[in-house]
Amino acid sequence: MNPSPDRRSLLLSALALASCAGGDTRAQSAPVRPLRETLPFPIGTAIMTGQLDDSQHAVLTRTHFSQLTPEWELKMEYVLQADGSYRFDAPDRLAAVAQANGQRFYGTTLVWYSQENPAFQALDGRRDAFVSAYRHYILQVCRRYAGRAVAWDVVNEPVAEDGAGLRTHLWSRNLGEVGHMVAAFRHAEEADPAALRVLNEYHLESRPAKRATLLRLTERLLAADAPITCLGTQTHLGLDQDPRQITETLRLLGGFGLPIHVSELDISVQAASPFTPVAELLDRQARLAGAVLEALMALPERQRFALTLWGVRDRDSWLRGPAGGRPLTPDRPLLFDDDGQAKPAFHALAGRARS
Ligand code: XIL
Repeated sequence: MNPSPDRRSLLLSALALASCAGGDTRAQSAPVRPLRETLPFPIGTAIMTGQLDDSQHAVLTRTHFSQLTPEWELKMEYVLQADGSYRFDAPDRLAAVAQANGQRFYGTTLVWYSQENPAFQALDGRRDAFVSAYRHYILQVCRRYAGRAVAWDVVNEPVAEDGAGLRTHLWSRNLGEVGHMVAAFRHAEEADPAALRVLNEYHLESRPAKRATLLRLTERLLAADAPITCLGTQTHLGLDQDPRQITETLRLLGGFGLPIHVSELDISVQAASPFTPVAELLDRQARLAGAVLEALMALPERQRFALTLWGVRDRDSWLRGPAGGRPLTPDRPLLFDDDGQAKPAFHALAGRARS
């Protein structure tokens, strides 16, 4: 006898959950093995406290990922209040989850042009006060997670959008174009010498001019004795990405001999024609995910810091935008679909045996 509709849907959701946990995968075409056990380097995801009560998200996160990055709640916008006080409730919860799951905890981000904080704006032009508040902020935040954070994005997105030079913002105006970065790396080292200190940038794979500027900046910072110990490439890709430029980017970044972090991987399928069949989009996405993996594997083992996805399921992605502002065709940029099922991009990563 066929199961009743209710029993059928119960059965199907049980199968879906089992596949999330890496168990029986009859609902899938290929078996789902835990990524964190399959890949020869740490595999991370971004996470927010709002996702902690979602059991499907929790199962996927602890099964497949060995590193957690707070997606938003360790940024200055969250941590530093207008009156100069600090708030650590959410990042503390995420650090505790990482510890309970046996995962590394990754801090982002200390200095980011995009979040000009009111507490710092109030000090604009008052050099001594600004210098001291800047150091205080970095020490407070890094020290709190000393011994827990494996690394910090110390400076995020320093290069101008078109690649012609560096961004200008509150911190560069008050502390110098390069000086504010050197100081940030030194303060982070003072606060937590054991955590890696990362210079992180995006669109290095699609914009050669931006990549060239980032490479020159890295040279300048190292020459000025900024204690950078890792380089990050966010790797927010589109389907039109030339895979050779992914390899080239990791090769060039790797030339400094530092560990490399693919720090925010997602692959948007949005720009493709709306009439392209979904299966084809997902297949092209999977090929690019495979190219990222191969590019990381081409680095010496000691330089493969981690591969971090910028979210777990497609519906968790920042590219979906806030509710209300969502595009008609929702993007599908991550490894798991809206129902938590592994996508072809997942299998492109999971298929790579430990070497
Ligand atoms: C984004 C998060 O995804 C959002 O939730 C948050 O509101 C803003 O930041 N580059 C970065 C990330 O370095 O920190 C950004 O994350 C995405 C782009």
